[in-house]
Amino acid sequence: MMAKRTSVLNLQRMRDRGEPITMLTAYDYPTAKMADEAGIPLILVGDTLGMVVLGYDSTIPVTVDDMIHHGKAVVRGSERALVVVDMPFGSYQGGWQDALKNATRIMQETGCSSVKLEGGLRSAETVKHLVESGIPVMGHIGLTPQSVNQLGGFRVQGKTPRDAVHLISDAKALAEAGAYAIVLELVPTVLGQMITQRVKVPTIGIGAGPFCSGQVQVWHDILGMYDALKPHHARPFADLGTQIRNAITTYRKQVEAGEFPTADESFYMDDHAQELIKAQLPELDGDLSDAQRVLAAHDYELVARASENADERSPADAR
Ligand code: KIV
Repeated sequence: MMAKRTSVLNLQRMRDRGEPITMLTAYDYPTAKMADEAGIPLILVGDTLGMVVLGYDSTIPVTVDDMIHHGKAVVRGSERALVVVDMPFGSYQGGWQDALKNATRIMQETGCSSVKLEGGLRSAETVKHLVESGIPVMGHIGLTPQSVNQLGGFRVQGKTPRDAVHLISDAKALAEAGAYAIVLELVPTVLGQMITQRVKVPTIGIGAGPFCSGQVQVWHDILGMYDALKPHHARPFADLGTQIRNAITTYRKQVEAGEFPTADESFYMDDHAQELIKAQLPELDGDLSDAQRVLAAHDYELVARASENADERSPADAR
C-alpha cells in the first residue's frame, strides 16, 4: 500500500506544536526519492529549476510546461512528502482566472498537492480564488525572485521600518486569503520572527533566521552542486559537486587506460553459440569491407580474451 502523504493539516499541527518543518527543493525522480527517503515532509518543485537545473541566470524564463514536466517526476519519485509546485513567472500575474487555469493544469498534470506563488497583498485575491477552488496555496514574500529586475538583485528585503511593515501586511493578507503557509525569503531575523508571531499559518524561512516555523533550502545549495551563486544563508551539508567531478574524471581516465570495463563487467554468450557464429564467419567475412574485417578481427580477439577469465553472465544481470 502507498504511504500516506503529509497534508496541509499535518503541517499546521506541526507549527502549532512548535515542531520545525523542513522543506527542500527537488526537480526530478532521483532527487525527490532521496528527499522523501530522508524524511523531508515538504518538497518544493521550485522555479529555481530555471537556474540550478536548466542553466538560466534567473527564474523568469521558466514556463508552466517546464514546471509540469519536472513536477510529474517529483511526484513519481516521492511517496510521503507533500509536493508543492511553483507557479512560474507570468502564470498567475494576469488575474485570478488565468492563475486558476494554470494552477488547475499544474495540479491535474503533475498530481502534486499544492502550488506556490509569489507576492503578498498583490497576490491575495488570486490566492483567495485558488483556495476557494480547492487548491492549497503556499505564499512567498520578502525576496521574490521573479521580481528580481524590480528589486535590483537577490538582496535582503524589509530592512527599513516602512518595508518591514509592508511585509507584515503582506503576510497577514496571504493568511487571510487562505494561504496554508508562507515562505519568507531573505528578510532580517527579527522580521522573520515578527511575521511568524503575527500569522497563524506556518512560515517557512530561507535566509529569514531561526524563528520561522520551518526552513526551506535549495537542493543544489546545500549539497555543493551550484557554483554560480552561493547564498550566504545556505550551509553546504556536503560537497557533492567535487565528489561527482572526481568520480567522473576517474571514469574517463579508466576508459582511456583500458581499465574499464573489466571482464567481470561484461557479458558473454555460451560456447555453443560462439562456435556456431564462428562456423558462419568465413561466409560472413566475404561480405565485409576491409575496414569492417579489421574491426571484426579486433572484436574476436577482445571476446576471446574476456571469455578466458569470466564466468557466464545471464541477461538478468544487466540493468
Ligand atoms: O524556487 C525556489 O526554489 C523557491 C525557494 C527559494 C523557496 O522558491
